[in-house]
Amino acid sequence: MRKKLAAGNWKMNGTAAQLAEVKTLVDGLATTADVLLCPPATLLDRMSTVADGKIATGAQDCHVAASGAHTGDISCGMIKDAGGTYVILGHSERREDCGEHSDVVRAKTRTAHGAGLVAVVCIGETLAEREAGQTLDILAGQLAGSLPDTTTAGNTVVAYEPVWAIGTGKVPTLDQIQEVHDSLRAELTNRFGAEIADGIRLLYGGSVKPSNASEIFAVSNVDGALVGGASLKAADFGAIIKALG
Ligand code: 13P
Repeated sequence: MRKKLAAGNWKMNGTAAQLAEVKTLVDGLATTADVLLCPPATLLDRMSTVADGKIATGAQDCHVAASGAHTGDISCGMIKDAGGTYVILGHSERREDCGEHSDVVRAKTRTAHGAGLVAVVCIGETLAEREAGQTLDILAGQLAGSLPDTTTAGNTVVAYEPVWAIGTGKVPTLDQIQEVHDSLRAELTNRFGAEIADGIRLLYGGSVKPSNASEIFAVSNVDGALVGGASLKAADFGAIIKALG
């Protein structure tokens, strides 16, 4: 029922030369899943052209305002103007680097919804929080705080990214992923009702590679992945997309 989604987050990586990887990916694409790439803002327009409507593109953040005196920021209107249809919000690197707490993420998500963009809202616990047995409570708090009441199945994707699994090669056990994703689905159902909650895609992110993608995708309530490093190379991201079906 939920369409699978393979999403790539290029973070602060990539210049025009890497668009060749996107061309290779697009040319070899054979999947029933949705595919999304979120490059740095400098590449969004050009990547959208190379993506040729076969894969979706998006930004890694947006400002809450539509325009104005906000040096260095980009608005949802600008993202759309550059061909983007998605925006990643609340990534742990922004929560950490830029002090973005869930209330900021919620406001930005509401703005994205108003602009007609799909928000990929990220949540995740630190290693200290997991070791203290607080994982589900922390995630429930982040989820409740980051999602506005405008959330629907069509305008929101939730990505569970344990902070300690990002870029480390460490991945939770499949049981741990399942426990979290089942609990997120239950939290969404409590808040939004079964009809909306059943349609919201839940992505796992954190050291997803071609070698571990299939087993992660087999976990219930995992509807795809948010991939960092392995989304930069067509061969790796293509293999992950293939594992998704
Ligand atoms: P890695 O796949 O490089 O661990 O990054 C995950 C991530 O943070 C995607 O947003």
